[in-house]
Amino acid sequence: MDIIDKELQAYAEKYTSEESALLKKINRDTHAQVLQPRMLSGHLQGRVLSMISSLLRPKVILEIGTYTGYSALCMAEGLRENGKLITIDINEELHDRVSEYFREANMHDRIDYRIGDASVIIPRLQERFDLVFIDADKENYAHYFDLVIDRVNLNGIILADNVLWSGKVLQNKPDKDTRAVVDFNEMVQRDNRVENVLLPIRDGMMVMRKVSP
Ligand SMILES: C[S@@+](CC[C@H](N)C(=O)[O-])C[C@H]1O[C@@H](n2cnc3c(N)ncnc32)[C@H](O)[C@@H]1O
Repeated sequence: MDIIDKELQAYAEKYTSEESALLKKINRDTHAQVLQPRMLSGHLQGRVLSMISSLLRPKVILEIGTYTGYSALCMAEGLRENGKLITIDINEELHDRVSEYFREANMHDRIDYRIGDASVIIPRLQERFDLVFIDADKENYAHYFDLVIDRVNLNGIILADNVLWSGKVLQNKPDKDTRAVVDFNEMVQRDNRVENVLLPIRDGMMVMRKVSP
């Protein structure tokens, strides 16, 4: 199920700033050469990520789910001077491709790209975060939120992708992943440490601002 009509999506993209040539290339290569290209954020959502990051000017960004590096590079556009982005993915097969993209963007010094299970890596990180993007295995969304919430600075932002899960959140008999997404949305809605907006962009993006410790 498309959340937004295809023509309206194209219209929204037409009146949204262009992606860089490198982002266009990553988008193209991913669709031509990588499995499950639908996972890539894409033009419109990528510009939203860039815009949020540029408004926030984060010192440290954490991304859970690198895939081909598209969203990492979008968010890195907003990093403040000397800021860094940590991005984690369990899929080592994409490592060389993604490292090359980060080098091409001249961002390899500012992006700490780690291969491994995010549930294992996050507890070992020392940093506090200004911006977190949760975009990996759906069944662990609530767990990732719990792992990061105490280490997000006040007014910091947590984003979670795919929270409408192709519209399946409305089903009466949800499968395992859908159940996890529904439980996550309900958990966020109840948690008064964050203020939240569910943006119906692409597959749904939950935007959470940390308002109390
Ligand atoms: C939807 S894709 C990320 C898309 C990317 N953020 C973007 O917008 O272009 C999800 C990624 O999460 C990764 N992933 C799944 N389970 C993971 C885990 N336990 N730890 C780290 N990464 C994981 C997958 O390998 C996949 O590359």
